[in-house]
Amino acid sequence: KRALSIVNMKKMKQEGNPITMITAYDYPSAKLAEEADVDVILVGDSLGNVVLGYDSTVPVTIEDMVYHTRAVARGASHTFIVADMPFMTYHGSLDTTLGHVKRLMQEGHAHAVKMEGGLEICDTVAAIVKAGVPVLGHIGLTPQSVNQIGGYRVQGKDAADAGRLLEEAKALEKAGAFGVVLELVTEEVAEAISKELSIPTIGIGAGRGCDGQVLVYHDVLKYDSNYRDKRFVKTYADLGTIIRDGISAYVKDVKERKFPAEEHVFNAEDGVLDSLYG
Ligand code: KIV
Ligand code: NA
Repeated sequence: KRALSIVNMKKMKQEGNPITMITAYDYPSAKLAEEADVDVILVGDSLGNVVLGYDSTVPVTIEDMVYHTRAVARGASHTFIVADMPFMTYHGSLDTTLGHVKRLMQEGHAHAVKMEGGLEICDTVAAIVKAGVPVLGHIGLTPQSVNQIGGYRVQGKDAADAGRLLEEAKALEKAGAFGVVLELVTEEVAEAISKELSIPTIGIGAGRGCDGQVLVYHDVLKYDSNYRDKRFVKTYADLGTIIRDGISAYVKDVKERKFPAEEHVFNAEDGVLDSLYG
């Protein structure tokens, strides 16, 4: 199986075939996402919140992203992988920005990068695309600007805001972005943007009119002991409970000397194992 390309994604939009995207941050999450036939994996800087334990995406570094993208690429070698450009790594000189993009592509083995922002980043987007790297835009609620926005609020609620979002989306398309993530945008505005653009929109909390959907792995699977219900998420499993119960049972078994049992121990006739971990 060959990974999807940005050409396939545009075609999927034209054919009305929804693009499926989920985040992943390491080898097992990527491998399972690929086995589940997801179209695109996003190594999101939501890494900061759901994997590294920060309270926003702001502390995430390019090092973090390269390291985790590389692990994802090992787990999903047949899936199109988009890596987030973290906070403040695409706002300095173009050389510095391109250096960060290069690391995500060459060391991380991403196929594309994603960047938050509107008109102010369009020149940068165009330069990265010119260098041969597909760029996914990201507008609406842009979590890297949380300290400026002052909260995770729904975007596009009045005509001026809706007009601004449409203008940003069009400018990103013109700058050469292959798609745009719309985060926490009213359904009406996201649908209008999706109709206006020829490149696909990927929604998260942006309703039913988008060309694709993206959710965070830990949200889809409730794989987080802090999980809080969010209107835009649908949960499909309760991994947090499964994992906690599994570990509790293991701890109990060891305490009660039920593990290891006879079948788990070596004797003199045993030899080489097929694998040690995993
Ligand atoms: O970091 C992330 O997971 C994202 C998605 C929510 C789009 O940017
Ligand atoms: Na992100």
